This record gives sequence, structure tokens and C-alpha cells, in this order.
Amino acid sequence: MTREIFLDNNATTQPLPEVKAAVVAAMSEFYGNPSSANRSGERARRLLRNSRESVEKLIGATAGSVYFTSGATEANNWAIQRICHKPRDSFITTNTEHSSIKNLCDYLEANAVSVEQLPVDHVGRVLIEQVAEKISPKTSLVSVHWVNNETGTIQPVEEIAKICRERGVLFHIDASQAVGKLPVNVQTLGCDFVSFSAHKFHGPQGVGALYIRPGVRLAPLMFGGSQEQGLRAGTENLAGIAGAGAAAECRFRTFDATIKQLQTLRDQFESAVLAQIPDVFINGDPKCRICNTTNIRFNGVNGEALVARLDQRGIRCSQSSACTNQRPEPSYVLRAMGLSEAEAYASIRFSVSVQNSATEIEETVSILCDLVKELRRFTLQTAAMK
Ligand SMILES: Cc1ncc(COP(=O)(O)O)c(C=O)c1O
Repeated sequence: MTREIFLDNNATTQPLPEVKAAVVAAMSEFYGNPSSANRSGERARRLLRNSRESVEKLIGATAGSVYFTSGATEANNWAIQRICHKPRDSFITTNTEHSSIKNLCDYLEANAVSVEQLPVDHVGRVLIEQVAEKISPKTSLVSVHWVNNETGTIQPVEEIAKICRERGVLFHIDASQAVGKLPVNVQTLGCDFVSFSAHKFHGPQGVGALYIRPGVRLAPLMFGGSQEQGLRAGTENLAGIAGAGAAAECRFRTFDATIKQLQTLRDQFESAVLAQIPDVFINGDPKCRICNTTNIRFNGVNGEALVARLDQRGIRCSQSSACTNQRPEPSYVLRAMGLSEAEAYASIRFSVSVQNSATEIEETVSILCDLVKELRRFTLQTAAMK
């Protein structure tokens, strides 16, 4: 493969060597079925238990409160669909959630569930007062993402959890972009459900989990065997889960150094872009943003063309979430923050990981400078010809 600079780490991250080794070991040495009452099954159960402990440690959860799923999409659907399933149930969320929740809202509404998608302000934060104001005795569940996948804006989930607790309302957090990048302690947070995916912190794709606060009852989404304490049927994805455990273990061990490294790389990138390219703006909350993400608006540039040109030069980044990227529509997250269509189209997300280097950042900025100049010239020429 030719050299690649991967700056699309909010879409997914490359599995660490330790993770690949854990997956291979699970497939070669732990091929028993964790539900089998034989020694192979016992070995597989042990691996499952150890992996769960590693994941629980990363989010400060008590033993047995993490249930493995196929990822955050399933975990989001599980918590929300099972709590909000009756006509006249009432669900409160925001209008900048990931598509796994945004599209679920349409389904819930079609099934007579009342859905309130709260607006965000110009930096993408939901207003705590609005959450408090909208909660009523009819509210079944509040769900807010912790960190926005496009802008990195951090939501005030601690305050929302407190309000929900005081008002006796269940609270779900989509923490897909937070786990491994923010200190997460689900117990002190006092929330009821937390969803996340392992591939956002160098684990394998197709594995994630739902944390369920002990004592909270949640019906299964799927019916079948008694796996995951009878709540998530189907033979476990043991290799994936082993990889998730290894990724969680690595991140737990290196947490402080990782956060520092991500922040340094992102800040190096952002300040170089701001210094070297005129007429660029950062989308998102300047004060409360995840350490690895920058969403940059290059005024007068066709963002889709810029992403494609960067891709040709080996630099991977995105215009919006990977799950909505195939649609040529402006980002609904940026539109919800008040950006015009043109501004949203001119915006690009760069997200770094521990596998990036300062040299890669320098190289990207230099290529970006040339491409932005070139595309702006093209925009001006096209406008002059009209
Ligand atoms: C905030 C957020 N929620 C949910 C998901 C869905 O994760 P997965 O596709 O692994 O199920 C993602 C993935 O991009 C995300 O960023």
C-alpha cells in the first residue's frame, strides 16, 4: 500500500498490534463456545470474563454491568427501543445525534412515541435549561450523546444526569466518541445506560457494548439463548470481544499519555492551519471539545472536492459522519448549529489518533495549503464564468 495519513479516526481507528494479537489468539486458542459445558467452553468463558473486566475498568463500571453487542448502533437501539415502545411514551434527545438515534426517532414517531429533538446552540451544545424544561411526568427516557462525532463538542452530560436523577427519569448516553478519550466513570456519572463501540479506540469493528446500571430493568432486543445474562441472545463474537478487551486494557494503561498526545497533535494541526490558510474557521465548542477532533470550515472551498483531492494524495478525512457520508447532503449537525448550506459544504472533519505523528501533521498542512488555494481559484473562476 502507498503511504497513507489516516486522519479519519472518529469514523474508525486502526486496531493496535496487541488487539490483532488478541483476536488471532482468540480464534486459534479459544474457539470453544462460551455457553458449552466442556473445557473448551470454560476457556472461552474465561476469556469472555477477562475481556468484560477490561472494558468495565475503562468506564468505571461494576462487574457484570457491561453487555457486549455488535456496536454502539445496536446498543443505542436496544436501550431506546426497549424503553420507548408504547404509544404515548415520551423520548427526549437532541437534533445532533448520530444517525443510529436520529433515524430511530422517525421509527418511534411512526409508532406514536412522542419525540422531542432539542436544538443545540452555535457551538453544538444542548442547553441544560431546555432539557430540564422539557422533562415531564410522561418522559420515559432522555438520551444525549457525550461527544459529537463531527465537531467534537462535549455535551454537559454530568449536569443532565443530575437533572434526570432528581426528576426520576432514565438517562442514556451515546458515549461512542467519549470512551477512551475522556475519563469515563459511569458510577459517579449516575446515568442508566451507556453505549459505545470498540473500534473507536483501536479495537475491532462490529463489537461494542451497552452499560446498564445495576438494578435497572431492560428487556432484550433479540430473543434466543441465555448469553449476556439472558439479555443479548446469540453466540458471542468472542474474537471481537477479546480484541475489545485488549483495546480497553491498552487505553486504560496509557490513558493520560494518550490524551496528551492526541491533544498535542490536534492543536499542532489546528494552529498551523489557522496560521497558514486565510479565511478558515473552527466549528464546534472552542472551550469544551474532545482532544482529537477539529472540524474546519474553509470558506470558498467545495469540501467534497477537497476531501477527494486529499484522498488522492493519501490523506484520509471526512466531511461528516461515515454513516451519512454517502449522501450528498450538507451535515445536519452543522446546519443545526446555524451554519448555512454553503458553510456546511465547506467544512471538513479531521480526527487524529495515537498512530499519527507530528511529521504527518506537517505534511498534511502543507498539502492542504496548496489544495485550498487551488480550489479557491477554481471557485472564483467558475463564479466569473456564470
Ligand atoms: C456518536 C456515535 N454514535 C454511534 C455510532 C455508531 O457506531 P457503530 O457504527 O460502531 O455501531 C458512531 C459511529 O460513528 C458514533 O460516532
